[in-house]
Amino acid sequence: MIEIRGLTKRYGRTLAVDALSFDLRPGVVTGFLGPNGSGKSTTMRLILGLDMPDAGQARIGGRRYRDLRWPLREVGALPEARAFHPGRTGRDHLAALAASNAIARRRVDEVLDMVGLADAARSRAGSFSLGMAQRLGIAAALLGDPQVLLLDEPVNGLDPAGIHWIRDLLKSLAAEGRVVFVSSHLISEMALMAEHLVVIGQGRLLADTSVAELSARAASLEDAFLELTGTSTGFRRAPGGSRETPGGSGGLQRSSGGSSPRPAPRAAATAFRSTGQRGGRRAAFLTRQGGRR
Ligand SMILES: Nc1ncnc2c1ncn2[C@@H]1O[C@H](COP(=O)(O)OP(=O)(O)O)[C@@H](O)[C@H]1O
Ligand SMILES: [Mg+2]
Repeated sequence: MIEIRGLTKRYGRTLAVDALSFDLRPGVVTGFLGPNGSGKSTTMRLILGLDMPDAGQARIGGRRYRDLRWPLREVGALPEARAFHPGRTGRDHLAALAASNAIARRRVDEVLDMVGLADAARSRAGSFSLGMAQRLGIAAALLGDPQVLLLDEPVNGLDPAGIHWIRDLLKSLAAEGRVVFVSSHLISEMALMAEHLVVIGQGRLLADTSVAELSARAASLEDAFLELTGTSTGFRRAPGGSRETPGGSGGLQRSSGGSSPRPAPRAAATAFRSTGQRGGRRAAFLTRQGGRR
């Protein structure tokens, strides 16, 4: 359904995504797992045509995202940061998206019900908590009833009830035969949510396997994940010779005995994509802070 082939993206000297190839199949939740800075958000942006790859391609049902006639009806996406106008109500935001993709207006209320925002959506989106903003983002992703859902760290900012809710929602969407691709830097979260895993480190594919198979490789799934990513969270040398970190700030550090050096903290300012809208940067920053706990 989705084919990623040789996908490569460089930002200056940082090789954010390095010749990634994998397929995403319908019917299962696929977790996209990797330490902070490993290239998950970049990969998602490349699939969505929000960034251009330096090499390789991502195809959705054989086509590039930008060639889709009604993108929101084929691919629903929850990007990393808030992507709505803070002065609009949640309902108006969704209504504008619906209109731009020839989606019936009544669908707006349907998805607001699905995400539990039926009442709150009459308020200005700028006043939303991070958890409510995530729910609004998920409502936008569901608006076109798409066969493919891409969600970048959707549980960040959600309370335990919200996390439980999204887990059930994604599983049921996959069970309906959709492609569901959801990123996280938290192996514990992925273990509960996903059936299949694509694991990356420093932009490179480390594993494309089932949760069950990865768990069987070590004493626990977490151990297996740390073994897999342990060698990819250290420093790497950029082609020009300067030292560079993969950008992670240690969401997943080895507890002891790790032979690879720990990633150095990165300036938060490099960590997010500017949405060009007020609230985007702050929300993205908070998302990251929340993700580190
Ligand atoms: N727009 C950008 N400009 C420069 N560097 C970027 C940009 N986006 C991501 N990067 C860098 O690419 C690497 C991968 O980042 P990202 O895809 O955000 O990782 P993840 O989502 O796994 O945390 C990091 O080193 C990050 O600093
Ligand atoms: Mg990310």
